[in-house]
Amino acid sequence: MSKKLWGTRFSKKTNLLTDKFTSSISFDKRLAKYDVLGSIAHAKMLGKQGIIPKSDSASIVKGLNSILQDLKNGKFKIDLGAEDIHSNIQEVLSKKIGKAAFKLHTARSRNDQIALDIKMYIKDEIDNLTEFVSELQKAILKLADKNFKVIIPGYTHLQVAQCVLLAHHLLAYVEGLERDKTRLSDAKDRLDSMPLGACAFSGTGLAIDRNYVAKELGFKKVSANSIDSVSDRDFIIETLAALSILSVHLSRMAEDLILWSTKEFSFIDIDFSFCTGSSIMPHKKNPDILELIRGSVGKIQGDLSSVLILMKGLPSSYNRDLQLDKPPLFDAVDTVKDILEIFVALFENIVIEKEAVASRLGDEALFSVDVVEYLIKKGISYREAHDIVGSMVRDCLDKGKKISSLSAAELKKYSVKLLPDVKRILNAWASVNLKQSFGSTSPKLVQRELRAWQRKLG
Ligand code: ARG
Repeated sequence: MSKKLWGTRFSKKTNLLTDKFTSSISFDKRLAKYDVLGSIAHAKMLGKQGIIPKSDSASIVKGLNSILQDLKNGKFKIDLGAEDIHSNIQEVLSKKIGKAAFKLHTARSRNDQIALDIKMYIKDEIDNLTEFVSELQKAILKLADKNFKVIIPGYTHLQVAQCVLLAHHLLAYVEGLERDKTRLSDAKDRLDSMPLGACAFSGTGLAIDRNYVAKELGFKKVSANSIDSVSDRDFIIETLAALSILSVHLSRMAEDLILWSTKEFSFIDIDFSFCTGSSIMPHKKNPDILELIRGSVGKIQGDLSSVLILMKGLPSSYNRDLQLDKPPLFDAVDTVKDILEIFVALFENIVIEKEAVASRLGDEALFSVDVVEYLIKKGISYREAHDIVGSMVRDCLDKGKKISSLSAAELKKYSVKLLPDVKRILNAWASVNLKQSFGSTSPKLVQRELRAWQRKLG
């Protein structure tokens, strides 16, 4: 078991229950690499500043590099009996290089050390997550491109509304995901200040060079207030908030696809390799992956809540409660990555049921707004046009008729401006082609957007 970094002041050994309850090694072990990298930069700085002898600094750096190697090739043994990853690494370093190891913790506390480790971890993970999101965007773009000619009935309130291109619907996902990436990069930008040197919370009387450490570790700047440096975890909250919003997008996408895969919709087929069956109902082919995506998102939102609640009552500066910020952070990062990974694969295994989708486009209710706009273009006010089309739709529904089957005389009853040529716009392609506003489902504009995304995402 690693020696306690503070054991000497204690007249007694700690109770085993104390050790078990306070230990964080079971989860902070994943910060090992960052802890070592931070220590290397710190040790180099201590040597450069003449705070410790250059030879000790060199031997610490050598020892830490060998630990880094061990970590890379799986040779580093985590000591689950250690209090935390910092103690574990310190102990292993002492075994490797002897007494010089004791100088590493000069002008440093675990309070600033852990803040540094988490920041380095988040910076890396934000880069990874951003990559994953881009992969998902690309998978969506592929589906959109492959099915560019597909028009679907769009829904509002889950009631049939108007025609849109499937690609337009899919590009809506891409837009949201892009904002998620910017939220993550904003979070990364704001947390990019190096906390080491804050020590316990008040700084140090030793002549450290914080800017050097920041530069070594690739931070944009040093944090300006030592209390803030060890006290705040807003950067974790912000990362979790960005992940929560991203996960809401993922959940809503999953929900769309679940609906679309039902017999009632039959818009898509998901390959068998991405579905599951029922132990009792032989006919079932269930979209369990999508349901689990939707379900896991609750956990991610729980992770955000958990850190918000953890923080809200804490007095300033470091409190041990802060140790509990990591499990929710790790859980959210892992869960979002898992979701993104399977979502990409699933998107590549979606087939659009073109005929079933096309069979829904005969519902002329889909074109009621187009008829209203037809009348507006003939000088009728919006209100009046809405009334005209409203009564025509109502009559048709009551009599079981289609607008396209109405005679010239019947049409004229609703308005003299309603001529038989209106029937030309009662189809899905006419409907989307009539759109012209920027951002609309106009095929020309959607095509342009699609190409722009393809260029951007490569
Ligand atoms: N394990 C702690 C954390 O995750 C860091 C150690 C600080 N401990 C202390 N007694 N000051 O925040």
